[in-house]
Amino acid sequence: MNRSVIPALFVVLITALPLCAAETAVVPRPASVETPDGKAFEFNDNTSLRIIAPDDSMSATLADCVSSVFPGHEISGKRSKNQIELRVNLGEYTPEAYDLTVGKDRILIEASDGAGLFYGLQTVRQLADNGFGRIPNMQISDAPRFPYRGVMIDVSRNFRDKNFIKKQIDAMSRLKLNRLHLHLTDGAGWRIQIDKYPRLTEYAAWRQGETWKQWNGRYCERTDSGAHGGFYTKEDLRDIIKYAADRFITVIPEIEMPAHSEEVLAAYPELSCTGEPFKHSDFCIGNEKTFEFLQDIIDEVIEIFPSEYIHIGGDEASKQAWKSCPKCQKRMIDEGLEDVDGLQSYFVHRIEQYLNSKGRALIGWDEIMEGGLAPNATVLSWRGPQHGIRAAESGHNAVMAPGRFCYFDGYQDVPHTQPEAIGGYLPISLVYSFDPAPDSLSVETRNNIKGVEATMFTEYIATDEHAEYMLYPRMLALAEVAWTPQALRDYDDFRERALMFNDRLISEGYHAFDLHKEIGNRKEALAPVDHLARGKRVIYNDCEWSWKYPAAGASTFTDGLRGGWIYTDGRWQGFYNGDTDRALDVTVDMDEPTDITYVGADFIQLCPPNVWFPEKVIISYSNDGENFTTLTTITTNLLRDNKVAFRNFSWAGNVRARYIRYQAYNRWRFVFTDEIVIR
Ligand code: ACM
Repeated sequence: MNRSVIPALFVVLITALPLCAAETAVVPRPASVETPDGKAFEFNDNTSLRIIAPDDSMSATLADCVSSVFPGHEISGKRSKNQIELRVNLGEYTPEAYDLTVGKDRILIEASDGAGLFYGLQTVRQLADNGFGRIPNMQISDAPRFPYRGVMIDVSRNFRDKNFIKKQIDAMSRLKLNRLHLHLTDGAGWRIQIDKYPRLTEYAAWRQGETWKQWNGRYCERTDSGAHGGFYTKEDLRDIIKYAADRFITVIPEIEMPAHSEEVLAAYPELSCTGEPFKHSDFCIGNEKTFEFLQDIIDEVIEIFPSEYIHIGGDEASKQAWKSCPKCQKRMIDEGLEDVDGLQSYFVHRIEQYLNSKGRALIGWDEIMEGGLAPNATVLSWRGPQHGIRAAESGHNAVMAPGRFCYFDGYQDVPHTQPEAIGGYLPISLVYSFDPAPDSLSVETRNNIKGVEATMFTEYIATDEHAEYMLYPRMLALAEVAWTPQALRDYDDFRERALMFNDRLISEGYHAFDLHKEIGNRKEALAPVDHLARGKRVIYNDCEWSWKYPAAGASTFTDGLRGGWIYTDGRWQGFYNGDTDRALDVTVDMDEPTDITYVGADFIQLCPPNVWFPEKVIISYSNDGENFTTLTTITTNLLRDNKVAFRNFSWAGNVRARYIRYQAYNRWRFVFTDEIVIR
């Protein structure tokens, strides 16, 4: 065993791990593990590695792999005692699958490809770390659930250097993740050298303001004093790509188009609809120069990146300028396009044709479906799984990255205990709960769902430390979602293994969130609440919940489910008052006159996005459903605060009633509640 790596790990971990639980603890959990009786394999100073491959070039590739997993370790051509043998059995395994047999004298890893052997080695590494160099007699047969197992890092909003990227590639490879999607361009900065358009890296990659939050939306010259930003040279990228490929990770570049392109249009304003800089985020689609420009960019990008997929963004186009731009309008007439969605679709089709003509495939965020999806495109589904499912149902490939489960820019624990995040509450358990291709879908649809991806957009993530904190340990859960058969997934079991793996990452210098310190969701949200109104009908009195925050619709207030830390968690129902004097006004029908001693509801407040407690609550009762008598009127003076807060507005006493009415007001603001509890 490598003398420098493994003993060092023993020192750190020896106090932390209960040996028996640790012995077979691998993340992601393998598809099958058997532990027959027999003697364990014990690493010693003479443990060697042997590679048996059909040709020299494959042997050389595998030797590189071995050195990346067990650096400095001797690779011997000969069979000897105490050896790890990597054997290529062409055609006998599915891609990336491997068998691992641990005996007293030998560990045998068999696979049909380098990736399978590499993953077998990664499993050996985890087992060796867990057992302090001793691996029990065991037989593992393992294969990934999905071929696409990705992580996206946004290096536009806050640039990260190449060493940071390589460090994350190391962790990804240990977790058997195989796609690194780099969000290389966005309004906040262009991050890839393009020789033909030097202003992209002389100007559009630089800004005053170190962090995205400090940025004033303008760019500056690279040479200006106080210029912040950066970009990868082609050499940097080739270095990253090779480093990743040695670890069986494909790097997929994302070049945003036709929107999220403010930085390009500041450097080359003639490519926008009006030619004015700082006015547009969308390219002009009526202008042939836009296509020339983007095809030139693609030519340089594919010269650097060997990936099959090129990600073209495609999300969140405003499409506004297209509506009045004479060139875009002419394009729409010439091409017989009905609306601006059709124009976006025309654009994506053309870019796809170009990529396909170069032997590459297009992947984009799910808005690329608007106006009709290009024939060979793959959809990266971020606004919810439904878009990816729709694409898969229509025969396209899809990769799932729905915000609710896969956006690592949200809080992973109680928001006020965490570093700043964009919002949302995404604990590791919620990542783990995601099934990208549930059994409820047809086999064909499931087969078209190629995998899953975690995304880390970095508007609020300015440092390496913060970025790692957001990635780990949630990336462990994502890896298991991507790799392990659904039937074998069990959160409690995973959590034990994740704690060990995450501790190891921390001991190696990753700035992970310490999972031991997780507080978890708001206690009210952990289990349903039982009360007299559970399952009762709720009548909405001339009021509607906001279409954006429906929670469970008309059953929300009596389904027993309480909200968590974030108003967007699907448990809180939102109402917007506008300038009317009524927002939330509902009546709970108890079916029959009922003795009632308590009526109450919790509200959530988070002032920056305009979510407030009510200024006034009225609780009343009736027995005919028309004439109501007030039980209480509660008024509050509200002070602006930036922290999430919760408050209960309730009445207690004695009344016999069939109908309970609950009204809550706050003009121009949202109010959110989760349950009307009646006792
Ligand atoms: C996205 O989050 N706009 C893809």
